[in-house]
Amino acid sequence: MSNLLTASIGRKLLMSVSGLFLILFLFVHLILNSFLLLDGVMGFQEGQFFNAGVHFMGTNPLIKVIEPMLALGFLIHIIYSLILTFQNMKARGSQSYASGKKTSGVEWASENMLVLGIAIVSFLAIHIFNFYMKMKGHIEWEAGPLVKFPFFGTEAEGENAYALVHETFKILPIVLLYIVGSVALAFHLAHGFWSSFQTIGWNNTKWMPRMRVISNVVAIILGGGFTVIAAAQYLFF
Ligand code: HEM
Repeated sequence: MSNLLTASIGRKLLMSVSGLFLILFLFVHLILNSFLLLDGVMGFQEGQFFNAGVHFMGTNPLIKVIEPMLALGFLIHIIYSLILTFQNMKARGSQSYASGKKTSGVEWASENMLVLGIAIVSFLAIHIFNFYMKMKGHIEWEAGPLVKFPFFGTEAEGENAYALVHETFKILPIVLLYIVGSVALAFHLAHGFWSSFQTIGWNNTKWMPRMRVISNVVAIILGGGFTVIAAAQYLFF
């Protein structure tokens, strides 16, 4: 029994740490994507800020090391979330049979983490297909000529990632898909962020209510940020 308990706590811990690592990635990703807005607002049709950002990410040796870690982070997070959900369902099965009712006072997101997770992974599969596979040359796309852009005081040359995003976000169903994916992400994070800190042990009475507020802020910044970028590309640029 105690072995089972330690194994379950270990799994939760792995899920929490991998989740927080993924949130860190999402902040970096959102900062890079916000260059799309900057290019749009400045009227840089050739996307010089965004292309410079993508070039930096694509050529920086540190990012090359982090990329496989990111894939591992997603894998760990997904696999352990499935294991834990099915474990909980099994454990709760007999209890809910006995009591005949659901846990009360638990917010919607916390009860639907698996569904939200599946929605995000489905979105991610399409997203990787749309952008990552094309940028890495696994799928052909109308890349057009290489473009030049300012890069740390000099000039660099690279693929026109801005054009790829710009063309993709001209298609309304894709933009709507991004909005749905981002909203699902926001709900997932609104619960996931504070829950991770609770698992790690940061669950004192003073900080837990604050962490819930911070969780909502993180969810709004990330979910809202990706939504605004996709919608703004479609509507304005
Ligand atoms: C407005 C919304 C978004 C835009 C414009 C966008 C854009 C991009 C682009 C252009 C790439 C390819 C970068 C390259 O290969 O050089 C990429 C990769 C990626 N995106 Fe997004 N993204 C958005 C939202 C999201 C969201 C919501 C998630 C996660 C839930 C996400 C996760 C990823 C991952 C995991 C990769 C592959 C790893 C990487 O290239 O670093 N993206 N994205």
